[in-house]
Amino acid sequence: MMPEKIRDITAEEATEKISALSAEIEKHNLLYHGKDAPEISDAAYDALFRELQMLEAEFPELIKEDSPTQKVGALPEASGFSKVKHLAGMLSLSNVFSDEEVTDFLTRVRRFLNLPEGERIAVFAEPKIDGLSCSLLYEDGKLVTAATRGDGETGEDITANVKTLKDIPQALPADAPQKIEIRGEIYMRKDDFLKLNETQAAESGKIFANPRNAAAGSLRQLDVQVTAKRPLKIFTYALGYCSAPIAETQEGIAKKLAAWGFPVTENARLCDGLEDILRYYEETQSQRGEMPYDIDGIVYKVNRLDLQERLGFVSRAPRWATAHKFPAEQAETVLEKISIQVGRTGTLTPVAELTPVNVGGVIVSRATLHNEDEIKRKDVRAGDHVIIQRAGDVIPQIVRADLSKRKKDAQEFIFPATCPECGSPAVRKEGEVARRCTGGLYCPAQAVERLKHFVSKAAFDIDGLGAKIVQEFWEEGFIKTPADIFRLPQREGMDLENRDGWGALSVKNLFAAIEQKRVISLDRFIYALGIRQVGQATAKRLAIAYTSLDHWIEAMEKAQDRGGEDYAALLNIEDIGAAVAEDILAFFADPHQRAILNDLKVELTLQDYVSNADMSSPVAGKTVVFTGKLETMGRNEAKAKAESLGAKVAGSGSAKTDYVICGADAGSKRKKAAELGVTILSEQEWAQLISG
Ligand code: IVH
Repeated sequence: MMPEKIRDITAEEATEKISALSAEIEKHNLLYHGKDAPEISDAAYDALFRELQMLEAEFPELIKEDSPTQKVGALPEASGFSKVKHLAGMLSLSNVFSDEEVTDFLTRVRRFLNLPEGERIAVFAEPKIDGLSCSLLYEDGKLVTAATRGDGETGEDITANVKTLKDIPQALPADAPQKIEIRGEIYMRKDDFLKLNETQAAESGKIFANPRNAAAGSLRQLDVQVTAKRPLKIFTYALGYCSAPIAETQEGIAKKLAAWGFPVTENARLCDGLEDILRYYEETQSQRGEMPYDIDGIVYKVNRLDLQERLGFVSRAPRWATAHKFPAEQAETVLEKISIQVGRTGTLTPVAELTPVNVGGVIVSRATLHNEDEIKRKDVRAGDHVIIQRAGDVIPQIVRADLSKRKKDAQEFIFPATCPECGSPAVRKEGEVARRCTGGLYCPAQAVERLKHFVSKAAFDIDGLGAKIVQEFWEEGFIKTPADIFRLPQREGMDLENRDGWGALSVKNLFAAIEQKRVISLDRFIYALGIRQVGQATAKRLAIAYTSLDHWIEAMEKAQDRGGEDYAALLNIEDIGAAVAEDILAFFADPHQRAILNDLKVELTLQDYVSNADMSSPVAGKTVVFTGKLETMGRNEAKAKAESLGAKVAGSGSAKTDYVICGADAGSKRKKAAELGVTILSEQEWAQLISG
């Protein structure tokens, strides 16, 4: 079922953010690798990359094949495996999708074998595992080769990788044939997949879209150590070449494999005829959601091996088997109403409130409608009968409305132009799909999240006032805006001492902690405001550039004139491009935000930015620009060194620049510096300057 809030941010917001981040990262990849002219620091690049990874970890269904995370820095999917010829071809399976087609399958089998009509055929049925097929060749009881399916005739040798799977026996008992190919499916459990993605995100590794991709990526590793760490599993279900028979039926093969220590699916069943088969199919389908691994259908195999032999193959698929695929998980229900959810960043997301319905074993009562265009495109209206769909863990979606059942008086949905939470205008910027509430901190839906950010570790970091307490205090009305935090000690009627788990001492400590944070450094303060795209690094750069709150406010007011000097100066700050500048200026242009800022100013004492840089160095206070490819150190290191010596690093040169340090291939920035009469230094000259 869908949670109250569609995860922490909506899928719509995530989609937008993922595509913006991907584009940004691609741009920097090109600048860095293609042009050797990076515009942002490695740390800033890493931060973008990690943000993308985190989002993708939370929304694996939104990962695009061409996402930067799937290429750059991602584990290489190896192609350096040697080829192996299968002793017996690895075939594919025909598919059926309906009960009628299952009937046809059985009829074909019966006709081929010339069995009387109505004679039941014993069929061994088992789940179709969504993984990668693998062939294990044992000779003289030893595992000698493991291979992928490849084109069915020749696969890739993945023996070393497969040997890391703990549930594959390395040796067979003495009764096993001298030479035998055992076929199975390598897969990853759903819970292991989620855990793996979390670890990958934490370690900046590749994020996988689904368990199948994770299994494939984990198996096709040239470095076996990597495969060894991945939670891969196998189910075995068939034989390839076999030098001596081991059973007379498919069920017998499964039993033998299990006896030899191979994992086989626990819920396989020997079915007796059509009704039995269809019952098994229905039962398994209804359990699909709760199964620990992904399955995409049921495989039916004629049980007797002598019959299999007679039936043989047609165009690379056996006549004796077929796969009965599950349909996409869909259901019809009524769309009761469309409500609007306001996310942390103010995005208004339309949500379909549905008459609860069972979709593939999961009760669904809400589904996302993404945005206003999507509602128009699908033309869904309150009261409509709608088809909803779930695929894997994806948030339920509305496929379409059944127009034949639409009531005559069904009204088209009018997307609100104001925020349903706070009444502020909800605006849609040109080129964006999302409509956003402009209420910012004034909007209750955004306020709590922003308050949590305000007190977070890198911001005000008030002891005893974590996210949980902020949420409670907000709900109880003690804290509505950031400045309320500083008025808490004077507030009456809260009776904090008698709260669960509190006492006089904790209240005293909390108030002392609040008092202590009345004095705060400018960079922390800027970060705490939660302006979009202004993270810690940018906040610090703003603090360095403007040194005091009053200066900053004054400059941002003047910078509203996009043609003026102050705007140009803002853009000249390292890591601040037009998009970030717009978010900063929007903050200052918003009366709600200004009220909050003014309110805070009354409560706080702002410390001007004091760098802990070495202010006695010859470059202290100077503004420097690095350009071109540096030889002796990376860009990041160069910038950090300059900043530690008290220099300000700017993104591009202006008349205020003191030095432009040019590496190899310094292009336009060097030319501009020369025109402006700014001192140009080579990397060596810069090194000399700072060492003296
Ligand atoms: S039997 C001769 N049983 O599905 C056919 N296949 O679409 C032998 N698969 O390549 C295959 N679960 O990788 C069989 N329980 C199962 C299966 C299964 C998954 C895969 C297998 C095959 C593909 C065909």
